[in-house]
Amino acid sequence: PLAGRLRKTIVMVGMMGAGKTAVGRALAARLGVPFLDSDAEIEAAANMTVPEIFVRDGEPFFRRKESQVIARLLDEARGVLSTGGGAFLAEANRRMISEKGVSVWLNAPVEVLWNRVRHKDSRPLLRTSNPRATLQELYEARKPFYREADLMVLSEGDVSVEQMVDRVLAA
Ligand code: S3P
Repeated sequence: PLAGRLRKTIVMVGMMGAGKTAVGRALAARLGVPFLDSDAEIEAAANMTVPEIFVRDGEPFFRRKESQVIARLLDEARGVLSTGGGAFLAEANRRMISEKGVSVWLNAPVEVLWNRVRHKDSRPLLRTSNPRATLQELYEARKPFYREADLMVLSEGDVSVEQMVDRVLAA
């Protein structure tokens, strides 16, 4: 185990359904370092789910909380940090993350992302009349930002979480 030996936090970025939480958690376990999750921290602090926060307080409020939580987590602990899919879009967040962490873009074809999120109701941004098209549009609009991550790891549909951990470590 590397516990306490990471020089920088490993920050998972990328779209909803890319596996940031599942791969991040497994990577942290493999390395023996803390696992941190910005969405989970926001939910715990607000005692509400992410969709509830979007409905009650709106997306701009959620984004402010997200920046605060990421700043705090980057300062508090060195481990693996999974962020929400929109976190890497704000320039201030990207700057913080690149100063204090190593960013990993978990990338996957939109079809794969869609198959992972289609049966869930936990993504407020996909509550549109055509969520499949919305996901595609978000992917296209966000790709230029995700490309700024330090590393990119691709997940095709049939790659296991442990195989993804191997790929992140290899990268
Ligand atoms: C969002 C992704 C979600 C969550 C919120 C907004 C986004 O996290 O932060 O619903 O803007 O893509 P996941 O990427 O973990 O689904």
